Amino acid sequence: MAVSLEGRVAVVTGGGRGIGRAHAHELARRGACVLVNDPGVGVRGEGTEERPADEVVAEIEAAGGRAVANYDTVADWDSARRIVEQAVESFGRLDAVVNNAGILRDRMITSLTEEDFDAVIAVHLKGTFNVTKHACDHWRSVAKAGGTNDGRVINTTSGAGLRGNIGQAAYAAAKAGIVGLTLVTALEMRRYDVTANAVSPIAFTRMVATAAVERTVQEGFDRLDPANPSGVVAYLASPASKWLTGQVLRIDGNVLQRMQGWTAVGAYSSREGGRLTADELVDGVAALFGTMPVGVDVSTSMGN
Ligand SMILES: NC(=O)c1ccc[n+]([C@@H]2O[C@H](COP(=O)([O-])OP(=O)(O)OC[C@H]3O[C@@H](n4cnc5c(N)ncnc54)[C@H](O)[C@@H]3O)[C@@H](O)[C@H]2O)c1
Repeated sequence: MAVSLEGRVAVVTGGGRGIGRAHAHELARRGACVLVNDPGVGVRGEGTEERPADEVVAEIEAAGGRAVANYDTVADWDSARRIVEQAVESFGRLDAVVNNAGILRDRMITSLTEEDFDAVIAVHLKGTFNVTKHACDHWRSVAKAGGTNDGRVINTTSGAGLRGNIGQAAYAAAKAGIVGLTLVTALEMRRYDVTANAVSPIAFTRMVATAAVERTVQEGFDRLDPANPSGVVAYLASPASKWLTGQVLRIDGNVLQRMQGWTAVGAYSSREGGRLTADELVDGVAALFGTMPVGVDVSTSMGN
């Protein structure tokens, strides 16, 4: 089945570079009008003179697509509202927001500063909330006015948020928080015909360029090409995914993984039938886990 985004309007935050740029191109190629949001900051969130959103818009237009640039930060409440407003003003409607913007400030927890933590949370978690909130307000007002929606919230989590990763306390907290936000958005926005899902991409971008990541191309396929996750985002943005909500999809090269959240994998009941006591848990917890805790892989060097 050919997936078309003709007539649909999408916002891609952080759409000027890396994975977001690829999303913007793919959505436009499939017919969507795209608001390319990007203030053009550095990888740590520092200001630059760059305007990558303009470049992506020019590329989309040169290829025959429709796009507008926006330079607002997702991290600020009013600024995020302007992103949503500009999309609606420019193209007359809104169908999908792809919350992709991100920065990185990797530090061991003992070296991580309050400022680093706040900055990472502000862009990833608060930024995802800000844009989602304003988009959801828009969709609710459409529904209240008697209109119909087929809305999409497509968030970006990561392996660090799903599994943890050394040096990424703030980033992992934000990315795990984004999953929680996705689940609640899915539950609450179902009544307005809006779905919410999260993707967990892997790609060689400037964000991972500093990490010891080996980029290998096997049999002509580049597992770390930033465009690899964009087909999944195009599918999620399309009418074809209407039934799918509250999910986390991980894209590793050309493999799509369906992720599952926290589930009970064992249980121990109190020996006497009453409240659990610390005394019985000395043996009880050992029995629950076997000889040592499972599921903690401290050897992971790149959770991305
Ligand atoms: N690259 C990977 O392997 C990987 C893995 C897991 C998750 N991710 C996530 O994918 C997303 C894209 O990452 P990337 O690798 O393409 O990084 P990137 O640095 O190439 O691109 C991120 C873009 O976000 C923009 N941005 C930063 N702060 C912003 C703000 N406040 N408002 C709006 N835009 C802002 C930047 O200007 C930049 O253009 C991020 O959310 C990242 O956490 C990436």
